[in-house]
Amino acid sequence: MTQTVLLAGATGMLGSRIAHHLLQQPDAHLRLLVRNATAKRAQLEPLLKQGAEIIGGDLTDHDALDRATQGVDVIVSAVQGGPDVIIDGQVALAETGKRNGVRRILPSDYALDIFEATPGEHLMFDLRRDADERIAATGLEQVNVLQGAFMDLFLPGRGAIDLDAGTVTYWGDGSQPIEATTVEDTARMTARVALDQSVASGKFAFAGDRISFQDAARIVEAQTGVTLERRSLGSEADLRAAKAEAEKDASNPYGAVMLAYLLYMLDGQTALSEFQNDRYPDVKFETFAEFAARSLPHQRVA
Ligand SMILES: NC(=O)c1ccc[n+]([C@@H]2O[C@H](COP(=O)([O-])OP(=O)(O)OC[C@H]3O[C@@H](n4cnc5c(N)ncnc54)[C@H](OP(=O)(O)O)[C@@H]3O)[C@@H](O)[C@H]2O)c1
Repeated sequence: MTQTVLLAGATGMLGSRIAHHLLQQPDAHLRLLVRNATAKRAQLEPLLKQGAEIIGGDLTDHDALDRATQGVDVIVSAVQGGPDVIIDGQVALAETGKRNGVRRILPSDYALDIFEATPGEHLMFDLRRDADERIAATGLEQVNVLQGAFMDLFLPGRGAIDLDAGTVTYWGDGSQPIEATTVEDTARMTARVALDQSVASGKFAFAGDRISFQDAARIVEAQTGVTLERRSLGSEADLRAAKAEAEKDASNPYGAVMLAYLLYMLDGQTALSEFQNDRYPDVKFETFAEFAARSLPHQRVA
């Protein structure tokens, strides 16, 4: 039976890949909620050619949400933003959807286990958990896709590993593994889960790998031939102190957010559990070694 899926965030990094994978599903009709849609027509053209339809509108536009959710079975959100988007926008989308007969929503979670975070410790996890609680109150089925970190974050040039400087930096001793999944595998699994009516409400966790910064460094070294100097930035207590200091800078809340991500990667508090990796036998996940082999130049040393 064909289900109509409304996707919010299709112009984004993750959302564009979810759109691609939803369009591969024979039993899905895809509708996109896109703000400033005319300006993004060229970007969206490949999706339109494959049968997607566009409803122009912002998450703050209640008329657009009403038009967008008519006849929809499932909402998938891959939006990014502050409280106006993650809480107000997604809750308005869910409430309007509920009124129009939508059955299920997958909110824009895509993280470590946000429900295990200590309230007040991680702004972005707080926003998502607060939104999800309010969305649950609408009575919609809610599936929370949790895949850990995106694996891309362990590649050189994304913060920890610097090939030019020949360093890998981390807090603690860099040995704490965390769950990580490629953007592509996250999108592929999200498309399947969205349409699978046998998936129960609640957390849906999976991961392509469990890796530490030390593991990532060893894999990148083997792949590139660059030897990386290990540099610890300090202990967990030092990280907490740096985060507390960053929180005093009201002009840049995201400085503290980055340290909150690193804290939960270090202390393991928001580690995933109850993995559903094997739910679809045809869906396989890339490990970090496979991902690095595909993404990095081989033996780049002169
Ligand atoms: N676990 C990880 O390591 C990790 C890493 C990165 C992201 N994520 C998560 O993945 C999700 C998607 O992130 P992303 O990086 O793909 O985001 P992104 O590239 O910034 O894209 C965000 C999307 O949301 C749309 N959007 C924002 N505000 C909107 C509004 N008011 N009305 C309608 N659409 C709106 C944007 O539309 P426009 O094109 O109009 O701006 C865009 O399509 C987020 O939940 C994020 O936290 C997880």
